[in-house]
Amino acid sequence: MWKDFTNWFNHKHSTVQKSFADIWPVDLHNHILPGVDDGLATLDDTLACLQKYVEWGVKSVICTPHISQDYYPNEVQRLKQVAETVQQAIEEANLPIHFSLAAEYLVDEWYYKLLEQNEVLCFGNDRFVLFENGWASPPQQLDQYLFLMQLKGYKPVLAHPERYHYYQNSPEQLMALKEKGCLFQLNLMSITGHYGKRAQQLAHKLLQLKHIDFIGSDLHRLAHLTTLEHVFDPATLDLLSQQPLLNSQLL
Ligand SMILES: [Fe+2]
Repeated sequence: MWKDFTNWFNHKHSTVQKSFADIWPVDLHNHILPGVDDGLATLDDTLACLQKYVEWGVKSVICTPHISQDYYPNEVQRLKQVAETVQQAIEEANLPIHFSLAAEYLVDEWYYKLLEQNEVLCFGNDRFVLFENGWASPPQQLDQYLFLMQLKGYKPVLAHPERYHYYQNSPEQLMALKEKGCLFQLNLMSITGHYGKRAQQLAHKLLQLKHIDFIGSDLHRLAHLTTLEHVFDPATLDLLSQQPLLNSQLL
C-alpha cells in the first residue's frame, strides 16, 4: 500500500517537476524574424525575445515568417539575408540558442507553385512544412495540397488547427485531415484562452485526444512573452508532458 503511494507520488512529482524547456525545447512557429511580416519589427526586439527564450531554457528557434501571395510575398533569398543578420547578432550577443529559418505558408496558388518547384522552406530531418488556412473557410483544394506536399517528400503541419472557426464548428473535419497524414501544431496561448473560449475548448479537446504533434508560440509581439509565461503553470505542464510531442526531435 505504502509502496503504491510512493510510486504514485514519485510519478506525479516527477511529472510536475518537468520544466517548460523539457517539454518545449524548440519553438517552431513564431514571427520573430524582424521586419518581414506582422511580427516583430526590429532586430532589438528579436534579440530581447531570444534573450527571454534563453532564460526559459529554449534551445532552438525555427522562425516562420508568413509567406503568401497577397499579403506577405516574401522571397526566400530576402528572408535568408535577414536571418543571417539575426544570426550575426546572436553570435555578437553570445546567446546560447540555435536559430534557423523556415516559413508559415498560406495555402494559395503561389504556395502550390512553390511546392511544384520544390522551393519550400521546411524544417527537421523529416522535412516538416508549416502551413495555415485562410480564416474565412478551409481551402477548397486542401486534399490536393496535402497530397502534393507528401508526394514531394514533405510532412504537412497545420498551424493552430484550434483557431479556425470552421473547425471549431465541426472538429470531425480535423480528424479527416489527420487520417490524410496532416500533423497539427497547437498555439501555446490557446491553452489559456488568449484567442477566445472556443479556441481554448478545441485546444483542450485535441490535447485530450493526443492529436497534437507540435506546440509553438506563434509569437508576434514582445507582449506575448508575458502571456506565454502564464502558460507555464503546473497543470498545463502536466497536460503537455502527456502529449506525444515531436518538438524535441528537432534538436
Ligand atoms: Fe503564425
